[in-house]
Amino acid sequence: MLAELFLEASRGCRTWSPLTHTLLVSAADDLARGGITTRVMAGAERDPRGTVPGLRFAGALHRLVLEGRAPELAAHYPTVGGRPRLDRLWEDALPVLHEHTDELNALTSGTVVQTNEPGRSGPLFGGLHTATRLAADAVGRRTAFPVRLLEVGASGGLNLRPHRVAYRVDDEVLGDRYSPFALDPSWTGRPEVDLRDSLRLVRRAACDLNPVDVSTEDGRLHLSSFVWGDQPERWDRLQSAIDLARLDPVPVRRATGPEWLAEQLARPERDVLTVVWHSVVWQYVSPADRAMGRAVLAEAASRATPMAPLALLVYEPRRAHTAYEFRLLLKLWPAGVSLCLGTGAGHGVPFTWDTQTWN
Ligand SMILES: C[S@@+](CC[C@H](N)C(=O)[O-])C[C@H]1O[C@@H](n2cnc3c(N)ncnc32)[C@H](O)[C@@H]1O
Repeated sequence: MLAELFLEASRGCRTWSPLTHTLLVSAADDLARGGITTRVMAGAERDPRGTVPGLRFAGALHRLVLEGRAPELAAHYPTVGGRPRLDRLWEDALPVLHEHTDELNALTSGTVVQTNEPGRSGPLFGGLHTATRLAADAVGRRTAFPVRLLEVGASGGLNLRPHRVAYRVDDEVLGDRYSPFALDPSWTGRPEVDLRDSLRLVRRAACDLNPVDVSTEDGRLHLSSFVWGDQPERWDRLQSAIDLARLDPVPVRRATGPEWLAEQLARPERDVLTVVWHSVVWQYVSPADRAMGRAVLAEAASRATPMAPLALLVYEPRRAHTAYEFRLLLKLWPAGVSLCLGTGAGHGVPFTWDTQTWN
């Protein structure tokens, strides 16, 4: 039942977004009473839990707010300069639901919840430095390998510029100090390599089942609408990363991960380290695609050579005791390296570097 799915989604954001939590609890109540939300969500009654109808609803309303078409509701959204008044939020949402019912229905039924979290560039940056250093050490090479970065499930491709972000770590700026995207990665510890060495990304390519073109206003609004309206830090990160992406475009191809990867990895490339990277994608991949992905990678790994090495770098959640923990894992072929480089929060910030063997 939709009202229950809304309540379930509301519990997921209670700690992080009182605004979205309150909106979803009120909407669940409205759905249970057959109010206007029933019409906004018409057609979604049997949608599976994984499509998160509540977040599609919250995203559609946020989008109208961002477009400047719901001024009274906008007064509650810090993303457009507002301040939440939770006691009045639903009262101010109701006229918007009545006035834009059909459009909200089209928005909620025509989109999938889609995020792209540029905070994950922090673990990626340190992970790439580590991978290139270890691959070079394995062949006694003095300088680190240049990188060919292949991202699966890249969404809007906002993590394809890890070398062009200004990372503010303690009193130092790492990466590109002149970048429009400054990130405080909130690190504990550091990777066991010199992060002041330059990181050379000589080729970048990416795919996604539903790529978002952030060079368009529609793409920017789409990703922005799924950032909860009272998360200013996440909002700022996203907007700066989009600004950077517009200065340094890298297309994201519409494709299924394993098929695309098979094509990309068909031939080993000499004198570069090929890195396959994915973050918070694996849970969405079907069992058949997972099996194919593993097979494609195993085949490419068997063809890797010391001068055409291959790395897998992933930032994905793993169940640890009672909660989920996000781990940065690195495998390197043919060097036979398999490491957990550290753990962090879902958005990649904060992150703790702590290298352990990964079996
Ligand atoms: C939660 S988002 C994460 C996006 C990005 N990796 C990040 O860290 O911000 C998951 C992405 O994986 C994509 N995806 C899911 N299954 C996929 C598959 N089999 N092949 C390619 N992309 C996939 C989705 O379309 C979505 O954009």
